[in-house]
Amino acid sequence: MKRPKIGLIGAGNIGGQLALLCSQKSLGDVVLYDIPQTETMPKGKALDILQSTPVSGGSVNVTGTTDWNDLAGSDVLIITAGVPRKPGMSRDDLVQINTKIMSDVAKNAKEKCPGAFTIVISNPLDAMVYVYHKITGFPASKVVGMAGILDSSRMRTFIAQELGVSVTDVTAFVLGGHGDSMVPLPRLCSVAGIPLTELLSKEKIDAIVKRTADGGGEIVALLKTGSAYFAPAASAVEMAEAYLRDRKITRPCAAYLNGEYGYKGTFMGVPVVLGAGGVEKIVEIQLTPEEKKALDTSYGHVQSLVKATGI
Ligand code: APR
Repeated sequence: MKRPKIGLIGAGNIGGQLALLCSQKSLGDVVLYDIPQTETMPKGKALDILQSTPVSGGSVNVTGTTDWNDLAGSDVLIITAGVPRKPGMSRDDLVQINTKIMSDVAKNAKEKCPGAFTIVISNPLDAMVYVYHKITGFPASKVVGMAGILDSSRMRTFIAQELGVSVTDVTAFVLGGHGDSMVPLPRLCSVAGIPLTELLSKEKIDAIVKRTADGGGEIVALLKTGSAYFAPAASAVEMAEAYLRDRKITRPCAAYLNGEYGYKGTFMGVPVVLGAGGVEKIVEIQLTPEEKKALDTSYGHVQSLVKATGI
């Protein structure tokens, strides 16, 4: 069978890491794209990664380009095109500039890659995935935003650190928009099936919830230039793999809501099943009144960002 084609739109920090992980997992042939102003940079990054495959064992091709024609017929697109935030900026501060970039990407994707399953990473996430979906008109099941896996992964890390246990034993769920109003759900966190609420005090859990919501900002402040890229790339690759290998994993992702959880016509983080059908199902769970109120607040925030895009 022919190898799948994976188009990575944006060859910056996350794009490069995505290309490396896709090659290491032999997910498919990778085409790393960036704008013509970057000149030969995507080609250089791709060649460097390709030269790591004899050692890593990845048996795929990796190429770089500044020409959308080379992306034609991609099976998967992962979009990181855009500007990352600087210390002191929120994700929302990026809305104007990244809306322009996302509109350009969406027009090209619609023309060159009509069958692709698309994972959007650019921020502000929920608004950017909305813009992409609106302009491409792609089916809602084939367009999804990466945020919940990353936020949950951060929460899992903090829980494991606090308890001195393996991260692989810890599950966590973060719903809502990818921003300050995200909704970490301690009630749905566990360690090897043991509810987190039986293992940690409310104060400790509250501190982890806060650190999770501030997780991206903590990295931005430490890096000083740019934002997180290793964990975001790993999270998106889990989603791409779920699609390409029909894994049917249940994870929080920014999915198009058509009445689920009482919201309509917007993208926001909810539990979904990811498989060969893309977003195969949105899982609706019963929320406590407090959790629903927090999700409503997050939805309101996402709505105001979507409005700010002007799309
Ligand atoms: N098409 C394709 N790529 C573009 C476009 C465009 N229209 N405009 C800009 N880019 C490219 C830039 O040239 C740059 O190489 O997107 C790349 C972004 O890379 P970085 O600046 O390194 O940013 P990165 O850390 O990868 O984050 C990208 O993801 O998490 C979000 O907030 C983050 O919105 C940001 C995005």
